[in-house]
Amino acid sequence: MNFTFSDYQESADFLRGRLNGFVPEVLLILGSGLGFLGDKVDSPVFVDYGAIPHFRPSTAPDHKGRFVFGTLRGRRVAVMQGRMHCYEGYSMEDAAYAVRVLRLLGAGKLIVTNAAGAVNTDFSAGELMLITDHIKLFDFGPLRGANLPEFGVRFPDMTAVYTPRLQQLARSVAKAQNLTLREGVYMYFPGPQFETPAEIRAARVLGADAVGMSTVPEAIVAAHCGYEILGVTLCSNMAAGVLSQPLSGEEVNAMAEASAPRFSALILGCLEAM
Ligand code: HPA
Repeated sequence: MNFTFSDYQESADFLRGRLNGFVPEVLLILGSGLGFLGDKVDSPVFVDYGAIPHFRPSTAPDHKGRFVFGTLRGRRVAVMQGRMHCYEGYSMEDAAYAVRVLRLLGAGKLIVTNAAGAVNTDFSAGELMLITDHIKLFDFGPLRGANLPEFGVRFPDMTAVYTPRLQQLARSVAKAQNLTLREGVYMYFPGPQFETPAEIRAARVLGADAVGMSTVPEAIVAAHCGYEILGVTLCSNMAAGVLSQPLSGEEVNAMAEASAPRFSALILGCLEAM
């Protein structure tokens, strides 16, 4: 189903009614392991997705399914504690719905994070990767259907989805924190099954450095409506077939938890400097 512009407006109007004139600058979409950052927001206003007209609840395990509005490191933020994934049964348009709503509320910068499998064998599990570009070959995209010109053009440019200025900023922050920040291309797979070793070899040939099941729907929609975007991946595991062991969701979550201090320090440092 395609949403209309007035659907997005209704969602934004509902949130405005809760926000008392607060205008978020940065939308922060938190992936596995980082949800706790939402609990660090000052003067928080919590809004459950389920309360917002046209919103879909997030069903992924450990995703709280709510917004936290407030200030974090001096920035006015809207934090998403939990996101929608296509593997939950949502369309790409559903998965990116909040991005447009927050644009209507005034947000112009997006920080999007995720956990992913490392395809690049120079990387190690637990390392962070700055997303420099993405690959989305499967499935329809989030902009399929009638274009909503209030948000952007019919054929949006995707030459620099991940804003070069913010990439540079993330490199500087990582350097100042003495943190290894890998860089590379994130390739979208719809999931929920992990990839096969053959799919990972194919992804590597195509130029992927990491594979995951999120981020790309939101990034495409955000690029369409003019956000500056910073994407950071936690390589929670080596992708299928790289090591001779099966993958598990528990392994991903355990690494996400273990890496949370470094990951959150980088994200907060970037947020402060944006
Ligand atoms: N593949 C896809 N998504 C993921 C992975 C993976 O190996 N790890 C964490 N999210």
